[in-house]
Amino acid sequence: MTTQSPLLVTGGAGFIGSNFVLRHLRNAAAAPMVNLDALTYAGNPHNLDSLAGDARHTLVHGDILDRELVRSLLTTHRPRAIVHFAAESHVDRSILGPGAFLKTNIDGTFNLLECAREHYATLDGAERDAFRFLHVSTDEVYGTLQPDEPAFHEDTPFAPNSPYAASKAASDHLVRAWTHTYGLPTLITNCSNNYGPFQFPEKLIPLVLSNALNGKPLPVYGDGLQVRDWLFVEDHCSAIETVLAKGRLGETYNIGGNNQQTNISVVRTICTLLDELRPKATAYADQITYVTDRPGHDRRYAIDARKIQRELEWFPAQDFVNGLRLTVEWYLNNQPWVQNVTSGAYREWMDKNYSDRTATSDHKGVTA
Ligand code: NAD
Ligand code: DAU
Repeated sequence: MTTQSPLLVTGGAGFIGSNFVLRHLRNAAAAPMVNLDALTYAGNPHNLDSLAGDARHTLVHGDILDRELVRSLLTTHRPRAIVHFAAESHVDRSILGPGAFLKTNIDGTFNLLECAREHYATLDGAERDAFRFLHVSTDEVYGTLQPDEPAFHEDTPFAPNSPYAASKAASDHLVRAWTHTYGLPTLITNCSNNYGPFQFPEKLIPLVLSNALNGKPLPVYGDGLQVRDWLFVEDHCSAIETVLAKGRLGETYNIGGNNQQTNISVVRTICTLLDELRPKATAYADQITYVTDRPGHDRRYAIDARKIQRELEWFPAQDFVNGLRLTVEWYLNNQPWVQNVTSGAYREWMDKNYSDRTATSDHKGVTA
């Protein structure tokens, strides 16, 4: 048994949170973790199956909106930091039902901040000096870029365009205010698009993989020339560890892999990898179908990560070619995981999001 103070992680059964928990506990000397997760459709305790029997990990099934629960976790476990991943995270869901995003992302973050503030007031000495509240956020708070505009940096004005992005921007502002007004020792990270193991197949990369293997259309919104800046999830986790260990209090750090890709290029690369790794009679790219665009679809994201590189000496370890291959192999080797999460509720979502999107004019000639 270790006597180190634990980390309190929220949303640690989701995609990035579970990768963070697994990565952290791979180190035999790591501090224990208390993992508070509401286990929404996106939270999956099976992501953490490899930790079964590991006394350093405690999964608490509960809501960040539950003030008494959060208070009691802080009092009982006295964590040295809160790493806050929990959120509603899918832009399309936020368009079809924004309420849950405002509740979890804004009210939930507010609740955590208030509990953290109360708790911080009771600390002194080394325990107080060490305490941190790290808020995990997104590049979407900065809005959208024209093709020739410079990448988002930490001082880029916020201009969120979707209900999801607006709710995350609001939560970032709350975190900032709790530092400036109450002196809570916070850190904020704004990261670009992640990909890798355990990503729920509503997001582009795992959705395309899942549909491809099931012989279904690969839905590309609009002309497919929207740009995202992709980062392998392990690199996001290593950046968060770095910011937690070395980040300057009250600062924001942008995280990205300097890897801008059009959506159609990503989809085609996945198809090429599947042609090699799981060949069939016809090319997977034949399944690509352009469909009605996402309302208010941000055209381009790109992250300027020079601050975290310069100040904290963090750099991504994985390039996109290798990272995507690893991801495709992971999904191919973990089909029971995919089948488990693509249950009835998932099929209802697919119907809700895609049934009204008609196949649009053929963009197959577009250059990616
Ligand atoms: P996810 O949707 O896969 O996981 C979210 C987790 O939060 C789930 O386990 C869910 O059960 C939990 N959760 C939701 N509401 C909760 C509540 N009220 N109380 C407790 N737990 C709750 O999300 P993700 O992709 O892993 O994203 C994690 C964080 O990283 C989010 O804050 C997101 O905004 C941010 N982010 C994501 C990306 C990305 O590309 N996925 C990029 C940058 C930042
Ligand atoms: O930039 C960081 C953000 O990246 C995170 O904050 C969000 O939590 C995360 O979901 C992600 O948001 P995106 O909207 O960029 O991710 P998504 O995977 O939903 O879509 C990626 C791109 O692919 C986007 O331009 C929309 C497009 N797309 C998506 C789906 C689901 C399609 O063309 N077809 C689809 O079916």
